[in-house]
Amino acid sequence: MNILTELKARFRVVLDQLVDDPTDLLAMIRPAQDAKFGDYQANCAMPLAKQLGKAPRDIAADIVSKLNLADMCEPPEIAGPGFINLQLKNEWLLARLAHAVQDDRLDVPVVAQPKTYVIDYSSPNVAKPMHVGHIRSTVIGDALTRTLRFLGHRVISDNHIGDWGTQFGMIIYGYKHFVDRDAFEREPVAELSRLYRLVNTLVEYHNSRKRLPQLRQELGEREAAVIAQQNLPLPDDKAAAKKAKKAVGKLEEKVVQTKEAIKSTNAKLAAVESGPELLAMADSHEQIAAAVLEETAKLHAGDEENQRLWEEFLPKCREEIQKVYDRLDIEFDYEYGESYYHARLAQVVDDFEKRSLSRESEGAICVFLDGFKAPMIIRKKDGAFLYATSDLATIQFRMEQWKPDEILYVVDHRQSEHFDKLFAAAKLWGYTDLKVRHVSFGTVLGEDGKPFKTRAGVAVGLESLLDEAVDRAYAVVAGGDDAKGDGTELSEDECREIANAVGIGAIKYADLSHNRTSDYVFSYDKMLALTGNTATYMQYSYARVNGIFGRGKVDIQELRMAKRAIELAERAERALALELLRFADALADVAEDYRPNLLTTYLYDLSKSYAQFFEQCHVLKAQNETTRNSRLLLCDLTARTIKQGLNFLGINVVERM
Ligand code: ARG
Repeated sequence: MNILTELKARFRVVLDQLVDDPTDLLAMIRPAQDAKFGDYQANCAMPLAKQLGKAPRDIAADIVSKLNLADMCEPPEIAGPGFINLQLKNEWLLARLAHAVQDDRLDVPVVAQPKTYVIDYSSPNVAKPMHVGHIRSTVIGDALTRTLRFLGHRVISDNHIGDWGTQFGMIIYGYKHFVDRDAFEREPVAELSRLYRLVNTLVEYHNSRKRLPQLRQELGEREAAVIAQQNLPLPDDKAAAKKAKKAVGKLEEKVVQTKEAIKSTNAKLAAVESGPELLAMADSHEQIAAAVLEETAKLHAGDEENQRLWEEFLPKCREEIQKVYDRLDIEFDYEYGESYYHARLAQVVDDFEKRSLSRESEGAICVFLDGFKAPMIIRKKDGAFLYATSDLATIQFRMEQWKPDEILYVVDHRQSEHFDKLFAAAKLWGYTDLKVRHVSFGTVLGEDGKPFKTRAGVAVGLESLLDEAVDRAYAVVAGGDDAKGDGTELSEDECREIANAVGIGAIKYADLSHNRTSDYVFSYDKMLALTGNTATYMQYSYARVNGIFGRGKVDIQELRMAKRAIELAERAERALALELLRFADALADVAEDYRPNLLTTYLYDLSKSYAQFFEQCHVLKAQNETTRNSRLLLCDLTARTIKQGLNFLGINVVERM
């Protein structure tokens, strides 16, 4: 049962009589901050009183008198200026717990109105090394897929692989000019990855050479602007003087920006100039940027050789990515890459043209959108289609195929402008009922606070990242020994298997436990800590419960079926019981704004409640059989909830640790 939803439904009946739309007021019913105020608290009487021009305590009393809560709560109390404090009845909690014990879904209901979701996640550009940002999209998307599915929605997961972009022009060009045949025979993807980096370096070198004089000129102008502003006489008026100083500050900031751009441009030049061989290559491929575009255009136009190369490269690249998915235990329903939509692109542009939704501007076909300065280009002057065009075609296809109510795009925050425009264009195109949502996320940072980079030069950076997490987890697993239950040592194979679950789990959990919109620092030590909000701690808590069953020779399956009563005599027992029953609320919170971190927060709170319970209440040595059984069932519910919760995050538990 969804406690909060149920309470809100009861309040809604009353509030509907008082206001037209009680949505905001209902949002003010929340778990109580402090247990001494009860379990839940409704703070809606104060704003409502203001609205109605009455005394808040009177309004609160009025609401309470009309509430039909007797089956669920003790008589509500009104506190302070008009807070309504709610305490759930123990009988009610016990009935829910009894149901949860027998229920595979742990008393979590299926949503009343299931929707169809398409979730677009992971979506790496193949032929480019996958990076840590792709883990974020992958694990967030996977967690949302699992959670929404469990809640009863129809979820279609679609990996929108970038298999058609300029990176293929790069590797085709690289392959034609620089391939090392032996290396390609031995390790094709590593060689393609090297070619990608090589061509990219050369393209950037030539771009930088063009750019440097422009940047130098810009720096001169900006420095002059600072001096000009500084030379203006400072106004007497204090506010105006402050403003003038601020203006200098702003101009100086621009100088700093240009200097930084010059620095990174110089670095790109130095990367080539430091090696005579590389420099010679750069010199003999002066037109490389244009040539790469040309190769991409030829591929798109169906050029036989490029098509053949693409068909040769693509499966190899996908295989490499698949290795990462296998290790992360990720599966997609569909993997329609960008290339799949190629045949539809011309018709998309035609449709915009025919219905006068686009206009030609400087040779390009543009969609002008309200609220955006720059238009969305759907066909370039040279006839090439863009990322945006292919995303429009993708929406059309998904609507034809699955008729989703909602499409979620789990993509890096840097693409927010692209999605804002895409969504506006889709609306203009006629998809007015479709909900589209950019589930964006922040950057993964290294311990130095800069975007996290896997060791340069390693072909598939992600795999080494996973290896390291598993290796470190192995040390943790081999080190700890008090959660094994029956006291026997773990075998080498068991240790390896556990280390895998712990290492991969740590990476996923660290990612998911941060608010997705914030950046976070990637730290092996933190993510593998045995205490705190980590997967390791959750897995450990789970294994410990198992250990109790092992030590007490408890047949937990039988106990579940025996319908033994649960007791809530101790405060810690009741607190744990309530936390257990909040699982459904936590999942609803995740689904509300697509935030898996609300589930990790819940699991952490649950583990803390459990730790307190375990400290304060004897389980195996309880004073009598009834209490022992009750406590064993609470342990069992805790373990099951942790297991299920971690499962939504794509993390496995281990029976021993
Ligand atoms: N391939 C893109 C990238 O790596 C992400 C694609 C996201 N999905 C989409 N439908 N645009 O940047």
